[in-house]
Amino acid sequence: MRTRIIGTGRAVPDTVLTNADFERMVDTSDEWITTRTGIKERRIANGEQALSDFAIPAAEQALEMAGVDGSDVDLVICATVTADTVFPATSTQIQHAIGAGTAAAFDISAACTGFIYGLGIADSMIRGGTATTAVVVGGEVLSKITDYTERATAVLFGDGAGAAVLRASPEEDHGLLSVALHSDGSLGKLIYRPGGGSRHPINSADSDHSLTYLRMRGNETFKIAVRSLAEVSDEVLTACGIGHSEVRWFIPHQANRRIIDAVGQRLEIPDGHTYINVDRYGNTSAASIPIALDELNRDGKIARGDIVLVSAFGSGLTWGAGVMRW
Ligand code: UT7
Repeated sequence: MRTRIIGTGRAVPDTVLTNADFERMVDTSDEWITTRTGIKERRIANGEQALSDFAIPAAEQALEMAGVDGSDVDLVICATVTADTVFPATSTQIQHAIGAGTAAAFDISAACTGFIYGLGIADSMIRGGTATTAVVVGGEVLSKITDYTERATAVLFGDGAGAAVLRASPEEDHGLLSVALHSDGSLGKLIYRPGGGSRHPINSADSDHSLTYLRMRGNETFKIAVRSLAEVSDEVLTACGIGHSEVRWFIPHQANRRIIDAVGQRLEIPDGHTYINVDRYGNTSAASIPIALDELNRDGKIARGDIVLVSAFGSGLTWGAGVMRW
């Protein structure tokens, strides 16, 4: 028995922030952003919008594609670091909105790797018999924790959510074939948000508001990202005996075009088989892989039998990958 993705969905804000907009906000240029990151524009939530405003429609779309009623869902996982509230979990809002009875629901915090952690957990629960039908959402509203006066991070991030419906399938050779998940907390301060948790609670007049912004040491992160993404992708392919040349779609975390190209080259993924949308969305953290997956799937570009490789890297540090035969 294998776990299969039987539906996907996505939702992003309407507002587009272009590189030209950033040229008016901070000391940067379209040329710098494009050559260093590959990003041209990103979607940004408005003042009232929160994660569930994107996570719920993404989940609903995925259910519709799957032809599954919300009442049949018994597991809802939401991967995010920008939940609507610190608690309760945004997954419970999704559970309620889709009418998922009293399904188990929890959020997971694995930053950009969150959706792959969600896939791995859902796969284990389905195959272990604790769930039958799962909705896994990866979503972020990183604009709410981005300092728009700080050019090194401001230009990188975007908002949105993607979702997948997972269900057990009796076919041994189709579905999720292998998942690998890793972390290294010694590198936790390469990408982090210092404030808003119990270390630096933001609840008094003398709180340092700047602590609530995301911080990243980009250059150091870059090198580790390339190495980790290549290694973990190789790990999952080796685990199920699939050659790199057999990969029909490689969907890496969309953080930076240069990282994606470097990893694709190391893995020797055939030309045209790596999916890239970082130019249109920027880095949407946990949302990046499910948004990309839905774009491919909804456009009919993934055929039954195709090998799909997903891999991600992010704060924690965390990294992971999954390989499936569609
Ligand atoms: O999603 C989680 C994982 N995250 C990642 O994987 C991100 C990995 N890192 C990256 O993508 C890249 O490191 C960045 C895109 C963040 C930065 O690119 P870089 O080539 O590593 O640039 P850098 O940080 O080494 O900065 C080079 C120069 C610096 O100026 P000096 O010191 O050489 O004078 C920066 O101050 O570029 C400057 N700079 C900018 N210039 C114009 C930094 N940000 C900007 C900007 N516009 N927005």
